[in-house]
Amino acid sequence: MPPAPARVPRHVAVIMDGNGRWAERRRRPRAVGHRAGARAVNLCIDFCLGKGVEALTLFAFSSENWGRPDEEVGALMKLFMNALEREVEELHRRGVRVRFIGERERFSEAIGARMDAAEVLTAGNTRLHLTIAASYGGRWDIARAARSLAEDVRAGRLDPAAIDEAMLGARMALADLPPPDLFIRTGGELRISNFLLWQLAYTELWFTDTLWPDVDAATLQRAFDDYAGRERRFGLTGAQVAAPSGTTE
Ligand code: FPP
Repeated sequence: MPPAPARVPRHVAVIMDGNGRWAERRRRPRAVGHRAGARAVNLCIDFCLGKGVEALTLFAFSSENWGRPDEEVGALMKLFMNALEREVEELHRRGVRVRFIGERERFSEAIGARMDAAEVLTAGNTRLHLTIAASYGGRWDIARAARSLAEDVRAGRLDPAAIDEAMLGARMALADLPPPDLFIRTGGELRISNFLLWQLAYTELWFTDTLWPDVDAATLQRAFDDYAGRERRFGLTGAQVAAPSGTTE
């Protein structure tokens, strides 16, 4: 029997969409929207810390975002570098563990080194597990896990017949965390956009038209309230979920 739903999600995953439109509506360059988006990141982290959320996973840059105009990619890289320089100490002081998932080797050496350093500095923290998905794609994640199993098969360490969901899942990003309970996407699009395809299998999805830089505590509270009222069935019936373990036929 799956665990009873917690009123506060243990793990929240967010697609922070709408930075570009937020800037365009103000006739400003898209980079201005990303900077405003970075402020909303801090607000979201504060909110989750205040609620006792265990894990927060943010989609900061997808595998596909490398295809955006050079100017925008450059502005985002500058923003990541600044955030890594300025925010990590403070996150560490507040007990946040920071990790990055995605193709780290595609970033500059300087950014990659700062990602490594942030992970090392905060490795012992337990208050909030913050994961930044950067140059990440859900299909990349699944392909990488499959490749890792295939290498074990080729080396004679693994019988293909032994491969099951749990074994593949153990090689995916975030395997050491409970899967996301609540997925939030801002900006009005109703898509997963190649985020955590494997990990979101039974996650509750919540969408809002609010653009990411406009997100405030009230927006996040609406998502959490909605989540608290959901019945999570994990493929079972409502009666099974309602009955205490062992009392159903
Ligand atoms: C999507 O909005 C957002 C991004 C591609 C970047 C997200 C980055 C941040 C919020 C900035 C800082 C992050 C960290 C972790 C420091 P969009 O540009 O696709 O918006 P649009 O759909 O309106 O064009």
